[in-house]
Amino acid sequence: MTARQGDVLVLFGITGDLAKKMIIPALYRLVGRGELTVPVIGVALTDWDDDRLRAHMADCVRAAVDEVDESALQRLQGSTRLVAGNYTDPAVFTRLADAITAEAGPTAFAVHYLAVPPSLFGTVADGLAGVGLHTRSRLVVEKPFGRDLDSARALQALLAKHYPEDRIFRVDHFLGKEPVEDLLVLRFANTLLEPLWSRQWIDRFEITMAEDFDVADRGSFYDAVGTVRDVVQNHLLQVMAYLLMDAPLSDAADDQRDAKFRLLRAVRRLDAGAVVRGRYDGYLKTPGVAPDSTTETFVAATFHVDDWRWAGVPVHLRAGKALPDTLLDIVAVLRPPPRALFSGGLGSMRPDRIRLRLQPRAGITITLLAKQPGRGDVPTEIPLSVDFREVLGPVHAPYERIFGDALAGDPAHFARMDTIEQAWRIVEPILDPATPPAPYAGGSWGPEAAERLPGPEGWVPLPPTAAATPSATPPLRTAAEGAAQEGALAR
Ligand code: BG6
Repeated sequence: MTARQGDVLVLFGITGDLAKKMIIPALYRLVGRGELTVPVIGVALTDWDDDRLRAHMADCVRAAVDEVDESALQRLQGSTRLVAGNYTDPAVFTRLADAITAEAGPTAFAVHYLAVPPSLFGTVADGLAGVGLHTRSRLVVEKPFGRDLDSARALQALLAKHYPEDRIFRVDHFLGKEPVEDLLVLRFANTLLEPLWSRQWIDRFEITMAEDFDVADRGSFYDAVGTVRDVVQNHLLQVMAYLLMDAPLSDAADDQRDAKFRLLRAVRRLDAGAVVRGRYDGYLKTPGVAPDSTTETFVAATFHVDDWRWAGVPVHLRAGKALPDTLLDIVAVLRPPPRALFSGGLGSMRPDRIRLRLQPRAGITITLLAKQPGRGDVPTEIPLSVDFREVLGPVHAPYERIFGDALAGDPAHFARMDTIEQAWRIVEPILDPATPPAPYAGGSWGPEAAERLPGPEGWVPLPPTAAATPSATPPLRTAAEGAAQEGALAR
């Protein structure tokens, strides 16, 4: 069945931070490319009017974009209007229904995007149902989806009162990142990698998501969340699923999501005793952070996938704030050849590696051994490297794809409930520990105990990005600077 195209986009939380930094700039770019042609209705608890909202949209766009296309901005402003009021007031939804009818007709199909705290998801769904809007709309909800398995199921029950699964789109903006989706293309459009992609040739994986900025002004949000809930349960487990899953039956959304579900179902629950949790020095002084906080800003863990393909292949993962660089890398370390034929044996050499850099600039580097010029068969490492942007050009920012897909009704890049449940199951043993995490200095790679997680040789060194500061303890960037860099790079 083909999903219904949205006739109008309703943005709950249009005056909020996410809308300001990510959503409004994304809508502007979509309008600029002619990919957003439907009216936009913003909903928010505010005393603004349409003109004030439109001025705010211009500010958001100018803050995010260097050379603003004034005509695209005017088109976006001209197609946007505001419905102001409290989501607990049924009158807001009556006004919203009237606005939808006025903008797009009485039978319009709406896409309701909830950029509001999850505690309001149920209230908004009830409000929409109260005026009958739930029968002709889909609901798009931001992360986090729950705080654990039980709360995720409770939240789902609130939404499922009014919406079937195929009309609930759960945002995980990593699923909107082209380099993440490219994992599927790299693996399944080629025959080069896939024959290697199993326990027969892969020794281990190392996944690093590093950010060189601290939590800055997000203290109260972050302290209630921590690294595991912020990026591991959602973004990184989705990435891991793309990296390790079997080929989907087809490129269709549910075939892809079935394959991801099967992979996640095979991932063992984490062993709390084998996980390294860290907290950068100074975190407790962040406004909004509790003085007795036990929240982690860094985590390193080893995942085990108990299926036929991956049994015995560890997947080491580390993620954190206030690290030396901002990047997302996956390294596949291959098994050594069965015998050491050449001078020096294998002992002195590292095995072949395939490194996929997902951000900030996506690319692939394969480290091979070739003969050192001169006497004897002495192998030496050479990198084969491609920067995808140099070859293919820039990618679209995740939120542009998320809105395009939400309007078109394509669920492929949204998280299905069964994968969210599996992800909560996997991380559940390491949620909310009572003891404080180990300290680490800002600008380091986390607590010492994390260094040796993959084995005595530690993690495969990652080449620094262009933005990385060379000194051992670089000045930390703020979260806003970090986000600005990411936004700029996505363009
Ligand atoms: C968000 C987290 O979901 O993802 C942030 O809340 C994190 O803490 C961000 O910095 C990373 O996303 P991106 O797209 O900037 O890599």
